[in-house]
Amino acid sequence: MFSEKLFKRLYHATHITFLTGAGISAESGVPTFRGKDGLWNNHDVMQLATPLALKTNTDVFWEFYNWRRRLVTDIEPNLGHYALVDFERLISQVTVITQNVDGLHQKAGSTDVLELHGNIMRSRCSECGYLPEADGKVLAFDKIPYCPKCNGLIRPDVVLFNENLNSTILYQAQEASATCEVFFSIGTSSLVEPAASLPYIAKANGAYLVEINVERTPLSDNADEFIEGKSGKILPMITVLFEKIREK
Ligand code: OAD
Repeated sequence: MFSEKLFKRLYHATHITFLTGAGISAESGVPTFRGKDGLWNNHDVMQLATPLALKTNTDVFWEFYNWRRRLVTDIEPNLGHYALVDFERLISQVTVITQNVDGLHQKAGSTDVLELHGNIMRSRCSECGYLPEADGKVLAFDKIPYCPKCNGLIRPDVVLFNENLNSTILYQAQEASATCEVFFSIGTSSLVEPAASLPYIAKANGAYLVEINVERTPLSDNADEFIEGKSGKILPMITVLFEKIREK
């Protein structure tokens, strides 16, 4: 199921990088974006997750985000998330770049996580930039929140459609892709830029490129190794095998 080459590359690696998408959280019960049970099918997210909807359709916007915030509060990391934490014992530098906003990598215990699309449990004032959570405030799940400082509208600290990513985090993600020796793309449809370009940066800089997904994506033919299956099953198998090889 896994190649000898993968374990050879892991054995000599000092830095490995994981790019994760909605698929890694699917086994925790978070719906993916483009799967058959995906968020897209239940909500017109393309219309709703926009700065325009925040301004003009604020009650529905926050109803949707409060629903997603509640969902994320009620779930736990799965074996896929925990396997990435296990890698930190086995390899000196492990970077997790995630497109997910659910915070499950940190909840599992990963220490170096770059959140490309933000975090749904954080928020900020769209007028003055006030950060309620950093100030110890917890937003209610059933209200439109307003800023205690300037009365501006509070928004989730996530990247909405038509918005740019945080340039510092993107730069760090590109660096972590360019400098790793093995790069894993896990549970992402590889369709959304700029995340979709990160595996190519890794490969162009000499990394061994591995994809784990339940189905093929536009990345699959360019990967050195495509492993078909659920990340919650495949990733722990890799860490267990790798640990055995390291003990020999
Ligand atoms: P998608 O929903 O587009 O893709 C999820 C991928 O996970 C698919 O390729 C599935 O085949 C795969 N998958 C599902 N279950 C899996 C499992 N148990 N194990 C492994 N793979 C599995 O989600 P993303 O690629 O993360 O951006 O979407 C990227 C971005 O699109 C999101 O971050 C979001 C959206 O626009 C923003 O909100 C800014």
